[in-house]
Amino acid sequence: MSFVVAIDGPAGSGKGSITQIIAEKMNLSCIDTGAMYRCVTLDMLNKNIAIEDIEKIKELLKTIDIKLDEENKKVYLNGKDVTDEIRSMRVTEKVSQVSSIKEIRLKLVELQQKIAKNKDVIMEGRDITTVVFPNADVKVYLDADVEERARRRYKQNQEKGIESTYDEILENLKKRDYNDMHKEFGALVKADDAIVIDSTNMTIEQVTNEIIKIINEKKKQIIEDEKVYEVVPDSKMKRFKYAFVKKLLLIFVYKLVYRIKIVNKEYVPKEGAYIICANHINMLDALSVVCTNKRKVRFICKHSMFKKKILGWALKLGDTIPLDRDKNDIESMKRTIKALKNGDLLGIFPEGTRNGMEKNVKAKNGAAFFALKSGVKVIPLGIQGSFKPFTKVKLVYGEPLDFSEYYGKEKDKETLEKVTNIIMDNIVMLTNKKI
Ligand code: DC
Repeated sequence: MSFVVAIDGPAGSGKGSITQIIAEKMNLSCIDTGAMYRCVTLDMLNKNIAIEDIEKIKELLKTIDIKLDEENKKVYLNGKDVTDEIRSMRVTEKVSQVSSIKEIRLKLVELQQKIAKNKDVIMEGRDITTVVFPNADVKVYLDADVEERARRRYKQNQEKGIESTYDEILENLKKRDYNDMHKEFGALVKADDAIVIDSTNMTIEQVTNEIIKIINEKKKQIIEDEKVYEVVPDSKMKRFKYAFVKKLLLIFVYKLVYRIKIVNKEYVPKEGAYIICANHINMLDALSVVCTNKRKVRFICKHSMFKKKILGWALKLGDTIPLDRDKNDIESMKRTIKALKNGDLLGIFPEGTRNGMEKNVKAKNGAAFFALKSGVKVIPLGIQGSFKPFTKVKLVYGEPLDFSEYYGKEKDKETLEKVTNIIMDNIVMLTNKKI
């Protein structure tokens, strides 16, 4: 797995220097994509290829050899060191136009993705957060006022002995900003999920520290997320703990505090894969289903719950399946399908949230999807009660619902909605059933 930090922003916003510092401090590979566009520009200038001459450009792209030597901070074009030459005014003036040519972008984006494969990288440019790595772990949009950016570039050029005036640079930056933002292909845009940092009044150190803080927080979050998906291996001890905790809760919580009553228990078969679908009214309702069933009921549960210490431990003990709703949680889906294949009994709240029906939240299609994909019946369950201490709670099971006529149609949205509605109608009926 690779860790990707993507930084976009206008020319002169400090991306280049900051990216290099962070790469060194955080041991990340640094890929200067701007240097790649500059190399193509220089190659075109050297070979007298006009911007409009797409055929010649295509030819050039077939043979061009760009190498970024990270260790020595050198850029090589077709074997020649062009580190300084690509920063010259003649290249700078043309690069923005060159970088709007579709064929060039496609080639360089592919190259950038290839370089970053299986590596921890930090990459800066104009389209890194949007096109090259739309799924980057950290996305930053680094901005600064154009005058401040011109001052920085001017100073940088002076230090490097590159001839230029402040006015020239300011004019050039304004032109490049316009071009970069209005390119038909690969324009500079702020990704919706990028963190914007305005560096106008910040020192390089301040910006660097800010980004390092963001990276560290993300790394911590990734470690925590990985822990969520850890599985406690089966063992005698695990089974003992599970049975012990279940019994304890059943007696002291569900019998004593809630005087729980189970209706139509026989609808839960002793073996085989089924999905229990219930209404969700309280934090304690899933556990009430778990504790009152002889069989292990594995619920699918919001992954953030696993991050709570004791709760997380208990959820793992019960082989609960984590689900991160903010992303396409493939791992969770795989586990659910595998569990059903193994003949497990699962629990899902189609409302997706507590009291979803009351809040008019549309029921989720997940349970229907898994029932149709895995070819299993759904056991509807109506949970009655308020979960106020010392009141009655009733779990009213319904006859397993057979959706075999729809098996294999889990990709059809209309079918999924139809099945979800049938499940929800049954749940509602059972929650209102007079017992
Ligand atoms: O960051 P820089 O000034 O070295 O970039 C040079 C040019 O390349 C600039 O005009 C924008 C363009 N560029 C791009 O279009 N996409 C990138 N990923 C990087 C740079």
